[in-house]
Amino acid sequence: MINKHLIDPMDFSIYELDEIFKLAQEIIAEPKRFSHMCDGKILAALFYEPSTRTRFSFEAAMMRLGGNILGFSEPNSSSASKGETLADTIKMVSIYADVIAMRHPKEGSARVASKYSSVPVINAGDGGHQHPTQTLTDLLTIKILKKKLTGHTIGICGDLKYGRTVHSLIKAMSRYENIKFILISPKELKIPEYIKEEILSKNNIEFKEVERLEEVISELDILYMTRIQKERFFNEEEYLRLKDSYILDLEKMNVAKDDMIVMHPLPRVNEIAMEVDYDSRAAYFKQAEYGMYVRMALIVKLLGVM
Ligand code: NCD
Repeated sequence: MINKHLIDPMDFSIYELDEIFKLAQEIIAEPKRFSHMCDGKILAALFYEPSTRTRFSFEAAMMRLGGNILGFSEPNSSSASKGETLADTIKMVSIYADVIAMRHPKEGSARVASKYSSVPVINAGDGGHQHPTQTLTDLLTIKILKKKLTGHTIGICGDLKYGRTVHSLIKAMSRYENIKFILISPKELKIPEYIKEEILSKNNIEFKEVERLEEVISELDILYMTRIQKERFFNEEEYLRLKDSYILDLEKMNVAKDDMIVMHPLPRVNEIAMEVDYDSRAAYFKQAEYGMYVRMALIVKLLGVM
């Protein structure tokens, strides 16, 4: 994996993913052992779009490995505001840093960046397209809390059209056996056709599309809730009409399986009532924690420091 880019969830083989998860679990068990692994190394965090968890978890990951960070959390504080091209920014940054984590509102931007970079580029979200490190987080969470990555019925609920975490998760899970998807969304926010055709149908993965969460929640092993992606709507009225389409509360949780887990990439707006946080099946904060450890493992692997 040394010097590879991570742009799309399929960039790593299942074997490589297993290596990352194994290392992440070693780090969780014994974090101190890794605290100087990246001494003298620099991560550049280039965030052209808002982020809390992803940016902080990358930065915390690098700091916990003993490395340093540079970067910006909004493009106005970089030369992008003077009109510098992404290509030029990346050429420069790859001189200063050893690895780049980048989030950008434009689909495909991380792929473009990787062409100009002499160091590994990690896609931390490109528009409504992909978010592969959230997928690493999601898979590690499933592997730890559900003990395996195969044989699950996964309900994905909310904004399946613009939700990049959803697109990446479906892509990545399509390689594991006996996965069934139940896609829950308003009809305006259904999963893009290309995911249905090129991933689900092509790989003979069982899936159904429904509009009501109540109808299917009892069938699920995993419920992956998502936020309606306000910033990707062209029309504010449509956002306002759809924003409260789903609210997971204890009443709905009552009919779910005892061992179902609730995941969410966060931030949540109001699609999960706070009362659910106290239910032992709520896994979203644990998931955010695993996100930092899996990014530590990823950085170690890409830099080849062990
Ligand atoms: C997600 C994202 O940025 O796509 N957040 C995250 O990275 N944890 C989900 C979202 O913003 O809704």
